[in-house]
Amino acid sequence: MDDMTLDMDVETVRSLGYRIVDIVASELSDPSKRPPRPPTQSDEVLAMFDGPLPHEGTDPAELISIIENHLIPATTNLIHPRWMAYVLAGSLPLVGMMGAVISSLNLAYIDPVNTRLAKTITRWLGEMLGFGCDAAGYITTGGTWANLVGLAVARVRRAGWDVRTEGLADHPTLVAYVSEEGHSCLDKAMELLGMGRNQLRKIPVDSDYRILVDALEEDIIADLAAGLQPFCLIGNAGTVNTGAVDPLYDLAEIAASHRLWFHVDGAYGAFAAIVPESRPLFSGIERADSLAVDPHKWLNIPIEAGCILVRDWADLTDTFSLIPPYLRAAVSDSEVNLRDCGIELTRTNRELNIWLALRQYGKDRYTQLITNHLALTRQMAAWLEAAEDFEVISEPSLSICCFRFVPPDLKLQIEETESYLNDLNQAIETALVEDGRALVSGTQLNGKQVLRACIVNHRVTEAGVAQTLQILRELGHQLDGQLRTQNR
Ligand SMILES: Cc1ncc(COP(=O)(O)O)c(C=O)c1O
Repeated sequence: MDDMTLDMDVETVRSLGYRIVDIVASELSDPSKRPPRPPTQSDEVLAMFDGPLPHEGTDPAELISIIENHLIPATTNLIHPRWMAYVLAGSLPLVGMMGAVISSLNLAYIDPVNTRLAKTITRWLGEMLGFGCDAAGYITTGGTWANLVGLAVARVRRAGWDVRTEGLADHPTLVAYVSEEGHSCLDKAMELLGMGRNQLRKIPVDSDYRILVDALEEDIIADLAAGLQPFCLIGNAGTVNTGAVDPLYDLAEIAASHRLWFHVDGAYGAFAAIVPESRPLFSGIERADSLAVDPHKWLNIPIEAGCILVRDWADLTDTFSLIPPYLRAAVSDSEVNLRDCGIELTRTNRELNIWLALRQYGKDRYTQLITNHLALTRQMAAWLEAAEDFEVISEPSLSICCFRFVPPDLKLQIEETESYLNDLNQAIETALVEDGRALVSGTQLNGKQVLRACIVNHRVTEAGVAQTLQILRELGHQLDGQLRTQNR
């Protein structure tokens, strides 16, 4: 019966492991050899990942070849040094390779050492971000999940009835508030928590995309007068579009005066609070009841590393703990048990990656990295301002700059050419993907189609930013020529 295991002999494991490490080293030796977005794949390549259910196994060496030669080239290249799209970061090889250890040994998450890791890293993150030095928290797959957990805790803490047992029917309608620039995952969280998107009020923003505090107060008062129950106020610590940081201190005051749970979405931006010069922007974060952050963004920890910080472990256990007899006592319950702090029961050891990265680099190295990213983004904005063929649309407050290409002869008649500029900048965004030398993404701000660069990738350099702007300029002039000819 011994041959019934799924094991490979140890020497094979060793040599396959070396091959895998060689693949990683070869990719890292030239991170721009693959374009940021993969070229369109042929049907033959796609067919390799299709086909009928295999009844018999395949030689592991052949599988590694398929991954090396076909899957990796067909996959988005997040280690590219000119990747500045969305809010996606690079990679940390040691942490990544340790991921192979976690999954090869199926390292579980249920032992006291894991609880200790969770406690340590939430404390570290709380301290780094100015949330507080004794934070509790839970490591999630990302910001979406972290915000969902934050709102789930808010609902339990502020509903005023036993929402876990009774649900939401036959109770006052719960409403939450966020600016119009809040991330779509907050809408999703409201849907999943049974409150519906309409119950997330979207408050208008000022010209810097920060929530309008007066409008917020008016909405809260109107909802109270209508018999609704405001329960949660969400502040943005770095919006996804422009990196705007809401006036968190003012929001904390409003939340306190209406007894609202104060949740902060810092998935993208909160790590900028570790830079001393930026810290004042985040004043009020220390008064948040919960804070969503995403170590897989600015800390460059491999995807999936998100985190929700709260004040007390009981915020999490009161929201999630549910222990049937078959789970009792298998592991000593003297410490907080992670299964009681979130939605999943079985899950991977996500804590280890964050612990490893913070131990390997330390807070100071990350402070330098983020300080450099903030400076690079300001430099980018300065180059764009000085250029005759670009226009800055949102001044960076963190590491996002939104801008557009404007042909010099159109600069004096921008209003009449808005629709053309939208088409042109959309075309530039698409052409950059095809071009393959760099990547920024796009968004819309006040009806304007803009290019959006977001620097959280540790491989981005000043030269990389300059090259990217030069590439965009080339594409802009080329496409402008083509579009004008077509429109004639
Ligand atoms: C402000 C903000 N919140 C939430 C999220 C969602 O995070 P994730 O993609 O890790 O789920 C993002 C992602 O970019 C974000 O920028």
